[in-house]
Amino acid sequence: MTRKPDAAKLTVDALMAIQPVIPVVTVDRSEDAEPLGAALVGAGLRVIELVMRTEAAAEAIRRMSGIEGAIVGAGTVLSPTDFDVAMKAGARFIVTPGLSSFIVEGARAAGVPILPGVCTATEIMTGLSLGLDRFKFFPAEQAGGPAMLKALHGPFGHVKFCPTGGVTERTAPDYLALPNVAVVGGGWITPKALVDAKDWEKIADLAKTAAGLKR
Ligand code: 3PG
Repeated sequence: MTRKPDAAKLTVDALMAIQPVIPVVTVDRSEDAEPLGAALVGAGLRVIELVMRTEAAAEAIRRMSGIEGAIVGAGTVLSPTDFDVAMKAGARFIVTPGLSSFIVEGARAAGVPILPGVCTATEIMTGLSLGLDRFKFFPAEQAGGPAMLKALHGPFGHVKFCPTGGVTERTAPDYLALPNVAVVGGGWITPKALVDAKDWEKIADLAKTAAGLKR
């Protein structure tokens, strides 16, 4: 598909600076992509991570990307096939739960920002050796939460994270207050029950609150 002209210029830092929270979205029915995306973008959450966990994911990326102002990326990219499918669907950025050098190289070659997941000092050092210093910190709550990020800030002062996994509206401010957290990711804005009920209004309310969080 034709990529938007500014697609190549999107850096990972620019991506992380746009809003305090990146919604992590699962779409089971591709026809939900437009109303769901419109609710998020309308509430101020333009950057949306859509996870490659359902049959509908690629078509949903395609449809959501058509919304004015939306910057839709693919999450849960686990394999070269996922990566190819996501890129063909028009994903503007890539998120992986762990660190795959193959996918990192693919994203670099394609000129799209990537946020690979890490949760240990060793994984961060592997990422540094691949030329990266921006990561998803996953699974954030289970891997030690804000206390772990504070500890990692010592040796890795120049590294910035997007903590994701178990973060909530209540705990997001604790992460956003840290100097090494640029943005947080979370599924709390689009819970399955609300998506299944097509309650776009309630999702827009949750998105507005998330968009208003301070960092
Ligand atoms: C995930 O992998 O599902 C994301 O990290 C989001 O996690 P969350 O739903 O706990 O916010």
